[in-house]
Amino acid sequence: MNFNNKTILITGGGGFIGTSIARNLVAKGLKVRLFDLDFTNHTLFFNKQGNFPEVEKVRGSILDSNALCNAVSGCDYVVHLAAMLGVKKTELKRVRCLDINILGTINVLEACLKEKVEKILFTSSSEIYGETDGTPIKEDFPQNPVSIYAITKLAGEEYIKAYAKRYGLKYSIIRLFNVYGPAQVAEFVIPRFVKRVLNNKSPIIYGDGSQIRAFCFIEDAVKGISAALLNSNSNNQIFNIGNNKEPILMKNLANKIIEIAGKKLEPEFIPMSKSDRDSSREIKRRIPCIDKASNLLNYQPQISLEQGVRIIMQAGEIPESWVESL
Ligand SMILES: NC(=O)c1ccc[n+]([C@@H]2O[C@H](COP(=O)([O-])OP(=O)(O)OC[C@H]3O[C@@H](n4cnc5c(N)ncnc54)[C@H](O)[C@@H]3O)[C@@H](O)[C@H]2O)c1
Repeated sequence: MNFNNKTILITGGGGFIGTSIARNLVAKGLKVRLFDLDFTNHTLFFNKQGNFPEVEKVRGSILDSNALCNAVSGCDYVVHLAAMLGVKKTELKRVRCLDINILGTINVLEACLKEKVEKILFTSSSEIYGETDGTPIKEDFPQNPVSIYAITKLAGEEYIKAYAKRYGLKYSIIRLFNVYGPAQVAEFVIPRFVKRVLNNKSPIIYGDGSQIRAFCFIEDAVKGISAALLNSNSNNQIFNIGNNKEPILMKNLANKIIEIAGKKLEPEFIPMSKSDRDSSREIKRRIPCIDKASNLLNYQPQISLEQGVRIIMQAGEIPESWVESL
């Protein structure tokens, strides 16, 4: 399909996932505009002068309706990623989280209507499922959010579906499962473990390390997101995007990272009560079922956990071949 005439606005486009999606869409020949509060945190694709030459950058907040409408003006699609996330931040700043993630999403929807946008893609989260009766988790599993962040994501989904029904705006909703990659902030578990291990420090595990997660490398997640935006099979659908191939216990993840780095370290366990996490919001098992994305979008994650961790360990020297592959 030829998308050369399409223009896409990415809210949160200066972030970890946003910059990688921008790279992917630019490579497909689309015109991309980024909207974010800040463009200094994720500079992987920026040149030495601090620019990402192929994209237009607009600084602003999704809480500022005028700035948002100006940025959305002339765009065919909106990829809405801007959000407050991270366990610590969203639990400490609960009202602010609600403002940015719910009110901000409504502002984005209103801007889409005003500027006659064709389609919106919204990144929701596996957190909306809460603890499930079984795994792998399918899109039609019951939703039991236990955190403010998860509630805001579920509310965002509902607003998008309601606007689509009422005003005919097309959408795709993506529920992301534990995306990791180079330049992700060290609050997230893989970069946190890698950083400590490379500094010859033990990775710290909260609780007994029996939590299970399935991690998805950024390059795979971006391909799924991009397909969900551009593939016509994706309209008005919800997809899990993650990597179901290597579910792993947190304590085994720590040992695997130690082994890949070739260090002689042991993980350190600290009680959940002494961590920045609340055990009542900690989900035990989280593994996605990605059959729907694989059937409708031909989505197949490729990068193994070991490959992904090795790419992160080369931080600062990201291979050109990897950037090209996005
Ligand atoms: N990384 C994951 O594993 C994961 C999992 C589930 C869902 N998600 C969702 O994917 C999206 C992108 O996540 P990410 O990992 O790239 O996070 P990120 O923090 O790197 O990116 C979010 C971006 O949003 C911007 N932002 C925050 N508030 C804003 C505002 N008021 N106005 C404009 N921009 C604002 C931030 O500056 C940041 O650049 C988020 O919606 C997140 O909830 C991510």
